[in-house]
Amino acid sequence: MSNFFKENINHIKNLSKDEFESLYEFTQILNSATRQDLLIEDAIDIVINVINAERGLFVKYDESNDTFSIISARKISNETITDLHEFSSGILQKVIKEKKPLLYHDVMGDPHLSQFESVQIQRIKSVIGVPITRDGKVWGVIVADSQLDRREFTDENLLFLSFFSNLVSLALDRIIKLEELEKENQILTNRLQSLFEIPDMIGESPVMRNLSQVLYKVALTDATVLITGESGTGKEIAAKAIHDLSKRKDKPFLAQFCGSIPDNLLESELFGYKKGAFTGANSDKQGLLEAADGGTFFLDEIADISIALQAKLLRVLENREIIRLGDVKVRKINVRIITATNKDLQALVKDGSFREDLFYRLNVFPIHIPPLRERRNDIPLLIDSFIKKFSEKKMSIDPAAIKKLENYYWPGNIRQLINVIHRAIILCEGEKLGSDHIILEDSSVADSFKGTLREYEMILLKKRLEEFNSNRTLTAKSLDVSVRWIQLKLKEMGEQ
Ligand SMILES: Nc1ncnc2c1ncn2[C@@H]1O[C@H](COP(=O)(O)OP(=O)(O)OP(=O)(O)O)[C@@H](O)[C@H]1O
Ligand SMILES: [Mg+2]
Repeated sequence: MSNFFKENINHIKNLSKDEFESLYEFTQILNSATRQDLLIEDAIDIVINVINAERGLFVKYDESNDTFSIISARKISNETITDLHEFSSGILQKVIKEKKPLLYHDVMGDPHLSQFESVQIQRIKSVIGVPITRDGKVWGVIVADSQLDRREFTDENLLFLSFFSNLVSLALDRIIKLEELEKENQILTNRLQSLFEIPDMIGESPVMRNLSQVLYKVALTDATVLITGESGTGKEIAAKAIHDLSKRKDKPFLAQFCGSIPDNLLESELFGYKKGAFTGANSDKQGLLEAADGGTFFLDEIADISIALQAKLLRVLENREIIRLGDVKVRKINVRIITATNKDLQALVKDGSFREDLFYRLNVFPIHIPPLRERRNDIPLLIDSFIKKFSEKKMSIDPAAIKKLENYYWPGNIRQLINVIHRAIILCEGEKLGSDHIILEDSSVADSFKGTLREYEMILLKKRLEEFNSNRTLTAKSLDVSVRWIQLKLKEMGEQ
């Protein structure tokens, strides 16, 4: 054991119970402190209490230009001192110079200290000061003083403060290192986030950040992607982003909407045809799947394609081959397939209206885009960007209007938000969008509905059935009722 250590052990033995208790209290605070300012404030409060001082101060010392700055200062009344002149700067300078703890009684009588005006102003009689070091240099000083010439400011107090300051030095060192790491971490995270930014996809919520990272990752592969999400959530933007971020970016990105298009038309669009394949096929025509060669093909609203086309699509996915309508020649294609739907494909598989084998071929890499109501924090950012996009003059928006938009449930998601903002800009004559300019259709339907609950039930049921192409299973699921309930209601309406 070194002499130094033995000496310190003896010092510890001389500490009073109070000092031990406050050391214990302080080590507990040190262990939990994660910020410099809080640590120091607590430290000063402890010093004031332990040595019965009236005031305590912690100043940071800047060696490069020999200046002090108050990090924290306390009066016994818990007021905060903000001006260093209120304190005895003489003791600070002496502590810095001598780099060791100092204790003075009868300050006024000490010619070395009383020459400092601040001491005279405050009529300080007793002062104690302890340097706090970091990397062998004075980093700051703890000072406590009293206007009474207290002899209870003893050498033991000074000893306690030395111990105490060592603990503070250690804790500060830990916190400063932690803060440096946090800062570095933040810089790296920011860099990473901007690395994963998708220009057209606004949103900083955790779900959106996660989504853009997933898009970046999947873009590196050729995997078939199935994008799900409610209408207007940004499925097409996501599909385009995957293409733009992929090695296929310089080749075509072609999209085909598959909803409510006659089967034969959709088929000839996708696969092309040979001259004479059908009336009006006056020349050979390349289909979109072929035209997208080397690039990405996006099939939007995949749930709507017929069982016959599903079989043909399965062949494309299995063999990367197509045959034009009316042709016999098999053509190899090199396209990445991305599909999207706002329907529950798995439910359609169960229901028998979507091929299970095709579902698994499409669902190699599923991506779900969350509805806007699950990322409300992004709403202000989106509003801002849409105002800039649609308004010719510089416009702002009232906080109440933002609140209104944030509280809405957004069944039409971002597309609906775009429309609402666009309309508000048209309605607004001034330069600030207010709540009155924000017209939220769906809720106003409910607001102005004057009928009975039964009538409202029927309207909602009809609307939902329409949405799900009269599929009762899906409608029941979306309304959280049984299929039997729907049958009964339809019967009541005389529709069955
Ligand atoms: N994160 C976003 N930031 C900015 N604009 C967005 C964002 N997401 C979607 N949009 C915009 O919202 C509109 C709807 O997006 P998109 O067409 O990609 O949705 P969708 O999920 O394909 O909708 P649908 O199911 O109706 O086809 C587009 O104008 C798109 O530019
Ligand atoms: Mg779409």
